[in-house]
Amino acid sequence: MRLDKYLSEMGCGTRSELKKNIKSGLVTVDGVVVKDPGTKVAENSEVTYRGETVTYEEYTYYMLNKPAGVISASEDSREETVVDLIDETKRKDLFPAGRLDRDTEGLLIITNDGELAHRLLSPKHHVDKKYFAILDGKADDNDVEVFREGIVLPDGLACLPADLDILSVDTESETSRIEITIREGKFHQIKRMFSAVGMEVIYLKRLTMGPLSLDPDLAPGEYRRLTDDEISVLKSV
Ligand code: URA
Repeated sequence: MRLDKYLSEMGCGTRSELKKNIKSGLVTVDGVVVKDPGTKVAENSEVTYRGETVTYEEYTYYMLNKPAGVISASEDSREETVVDLIDETKRKDLFPAGRLDRDTEGLLIITNDGELAHRLLSPKHHVDKKYFAILDGKADDNDVEVFREGIVLPDGLACLPADLDILSVDTESETSRIEITIREGKFHQIKRMFSAVGMEVIYLKRLTMGPLSLDPDLAPGEYRRLTDDEISVLKSV
């Protein structure tokens, strides 16, 4: 890989900044100052930038609190994507592990690890996903039962059993605050499940994905790297 690409993928700056700084002697490779930005380096080369070691990571994992209004894609010519929000790296191979609707907030993993994403998303693995929602409508015990048994949507789609927990019902505004755990991830699944029992989802936020919970310190639009412990529990799914 080119030296300027290596450094920009590891978040040291833009390619043009780095080209300039490499030419002015701020970078060493295996102990030697290198001034050609196109120098080829291996992933295990010892690279320093401004005196600090820059270790190459094959895989990178972020937890994003997705804000509403952003699409779950890697790149788009017109719209802001969840990957555009990860501004500490210039890695080109990041993608969201799964999709949330444009108006949904909450936990999204952004990575370049295709194998982990496949494991989390594969319909065979039935990874639990918990959401918080506000509904236009009064949820009741009958809805809990219908969801527990596995609701069949009007188009014939049979959903796996889901756990519905009613947190509160406001009888005046006729809205409900609920948490729901589903084990699959079909298109607009939660909205379609509630629509089938006559309620509209007016706010939706994903709280967990398998063993991983959204960090409450992340405001919508904020992200952080996953810790080593979080990465290893996710890999055990
Ligand atoms: N279910 C939905 O309807 N939308 C989402 O974004 C996620 C789950």
